[in-house]
Parts: sequence; structure tokens; C-alpha cells
Amino acid sequence: MSFLSVGNVHHTYFSKEATTQALQDINLTINKGEFVSFIGPSGCGKTTLLSIIAGLFEPTSGSVKIEEQEVYGNTNLSIGYMLQQDYLFPWKTIEENITLGLKLLKNEKQSYAKVASNLLSDVGLPPVEKKYPRELSGGMRQRVALARTLAVDPKILLLDEPFSALDYQSKLKLEDLVWRKLKEYEKTAVLVTHDLGEAIAMSDRIFLFSARPGRIHQIFDVPEELRAITPFEARSHSSYSSLFQVIWKELESLE
Ligand SMILES: Nc1ncnc2c1ncn2[C@@H]1O[C@H](COP(=O)(O)OP(=O)(O)OP(=O)(O)O)[C@@H](O)[C@H]1O
Ligand SMILES: [Mg+2]
Repeated sequence: MSFLSVGNVHHTYFSKEATTQALQDINLTINKGEFVSFIGPSGCGKTTLLSIIAGLFEPTSGSVKIEEQEVYGNTNLSIGYMLQQDYLFPWKTIEENITLGLKLLKNEKQSYAKVASNLLSDVGLPPVEKKYPRELSGGMRQRVALARTLAVDPKILLLDEPFSALDYQSKLKLEDLVWRKLKEYEKTAVLVTHDLGEAIAMSDRIFLFSARPGRIHQIFDVPEELRAITPFEARSHSSYSSLFQVIWKELESLE
């Protein structure tokens, strides 16, 4: 049984000036524990599709189901969403930011302070729970955002270019961290990225989208030898460059 299924999804944005067909006939299934990436030219509908999968809005037509339950309007499904900007609340401490979701879920059995400190060390941060987001670097804030996302134990993680605002070194470190945590917690994840190397290094499968309207152009399986090693190791593996060449050619043909 597939964990996530997207069936015949079409989406059109309507505004006073224009109608934009963002997605056309998207069909895909993702298995439990699988890590997939969406790549494709700017404006091909990746964020639109991720938002629809997150249940943020309803597609013009079609359906999205997680474990057979329709996503839109469903409050039982916990979905983690991590974005390019960390969206931490500047007036709340790191601890309050991390445990906010838990408090909303009214999970009162746990000690929030304990949860926050465990998660911080889990994502490789020193005890910064009493600090404010402005006192942390961009890379540290993204780690806090990851801790906050993991705190509510979501069924699926949706990552929309979560590393793109970071310097190269922090980005490589966070790729490894996120990859390891998701494997450890056996989470299913969808990553949107402009970085083909990142998609290859982190994913089990890669969906390449074409633009105007957004459609699935091709699906690539990442070979087992790359899936078995960390993203950092994968980047220097010989299979990495051959797959990079193949997908790069396809990307070029689309732009
Ligand atoms: N709220 C909106 N109202 C109207 N049109 C929109 C809206 N959001 C996105 N679009 C349009 O829908 C199309 C898909 O946008 P989307 O943001 O999903 O693309 P994307 O693949 O995430 O792009 P990028 O790689 O630049 O982030 C684009 O043509 C965009 O202009
Ligand atoms: Mg986008």
C-alpha cells in the first residue's frame, strides 16, 4: 500500500488579471519511509504541489491521500512543513519555538523543557533554549526549525528548499543531519530543491517536472549504492556524477 497518493491533480490559480494553470494531471505514489525530491524549472508548480500535499489548499481537481485519508480538511494528519526561511517567532525563545506545536496539540504529558533540550542536542545544537532566534546564525536557526518540525512527530515531512539560504558548508552539514534523522525516525519525506546534486545525494527517487503547466516529465531511481550512504559521501561517489549528467541533460532540454 502506498503511503501518499496524488491522483489526477490539476491546479489553476485564478486572479482578476489572469488564470495560471500551475499543475496538470499529476499522479504519483510514495511509499512509507521513502525520500523523494521534486525538481524542475522555476514556476513549474513544485511549491503549489507541496502546499496541496500539506493540505494548505484544495486542488482545482483531483485528490491527495495519506494512508487512504483525504488530506484536505483533515485535522488528524500531522504533516511537518519546513521552508526556505525558518519562520521562527522572533519574540519567543528557542524552547518556546520548538514546543509551540506540542502545546497546540495539547500534549501535556511531556515536560516541554525536557523535550526541547533533547531535540536541541539531537539536531547537534548546544543548549540555546533560553536564547532568541536573532541570537543564532542562519544554520542554527534552520536546525531549530528542524527540531520544531520533528517535535510533533509528523507522519510526513515536506521540505521546500530548506537549505537554499545557507552557506555551502552549513548546507552540506544540514543535508546529512536531516537525512540521518529521517532515516532514524523512519519518516517519509518530499524535498523541493533547485540543487540537482542535493536531490541525488538525499533521495531514493527524483521527480522531474516540466513547466507551463507543471507536469511530471520523468522519474529517476537513485541507485542503491548512493541511497545506502550519507549525502556527503554520495556527492563523491562515481555513480553520482553519471546520474547527474543524465538528469542535467533532461533539465536543460526543459529550460
Ligand atoms: N498564489 C498564487 N496566485 C497566482 N499564481 C500563482 C500563485 N502561486 C503560484 N502561482 C503561479 O503558479 C505557477 C507555479 O508556481 P510555484 O510557486 O508552484 O512554482 P515553483 O516550481 O515552486 O517555482 P520556484 O522554483 O520558483 O519556487 C507559477 O506560474 C506561479 O506564477
Ligand atoms: Mg517554489
